[in-house]
Amino acid sequence: MIYAEILAGGKGSRMGNVNMPKQFLPLNNRPIIIHTVEKFMLNGRFDKIIIVSPKEWLNHTRDILKKFIGDNDRLVVVEGGSDRNESIMSGIKYIENEFGLNDDDIIVTHDSVRPFLTHRIIEENINAAMEYDAVDTVITAVDTIIESDDSEFISDIPVRDKMYQGQTPQSFRIKKLVSLYEQLSPEQKAILTDACKICSIAGEKVKMVKGEVFNIKVTTPYDLKVANAILQERISQ
Ligand code: CTP
Repeated sequence: MIYAEILAGGKGSRMGNVNMPKQFLPLNNRPIIIHTVEKFMLNGRFDKIIIVSPKEWLNHTRDILKKFIGDNDRLVVVEGGSDRNESIMSGIKYIENEFGLNDDDIIVTHDSVRPFLTHRIIEENINAAMEYDAVDTVITAVDTIIESDDSEFISDIPVRDKMYQGQTPQSFRIKKLVSLYEQLSPEQKAILTDACKICSIAGEKVKMVKGEVFNIKVTTPYDLKVANAILQERISQ
């Protein structure tokens, strides 16, 4: 089976003082998350599309899906977890309980707040996950990346040609991801914000798929303005 998991379990604190988590804010009259879910609905290879949402927003998530997309057997909303990886695992727990986990099952995980991903990116994620078991979506770094251990002085300036910026989707052979995650200590789990790092620190290869500069993550009010501008440009074309 091929699953999509759309991560909407966060609170969006960097968005500032808004009355709902950023994934529910409007982008041209429809919530950001709806734009994202629609991209996944267009791909017929997904058996189920699981959306994880904060407990207190579960009903709201179900309501807006019904309103903007309608009833659809492929869509399921489940409660997220305490951090991003726990949210991924909470969706996987649902899959395990409902359908069981098979060796070849694949999951394509994606930030609900990246509404501009493309059909090509999704297809390449699925295909690469089948071949390599773990996949990240990346773009080449445009700016030089500066590393600092103490937030005051530079500790390293890595060679830019080797630097990339991580996006999503990130896609995995589900059983392998779960078994690597379960081997981590609570301390390791607490500092691992990136699901692909679960694989890379275990020495597993993670295949890179080319993202797009416009596959932005809406994190701050500025990003929301950029997202609106991208959408308006598309509408006017
Ligand atoms: N996410 C999630 N479960 C969590 C935390 C985050 O599913 N417990 C999701 C967010 O909803 C978002 C994606 O992961 O779609 C990317 O995370 P980020 O941009 O950091 O979202 P938030 O944690 O909501 O934002 P902030 O860090 O500003 O609070």
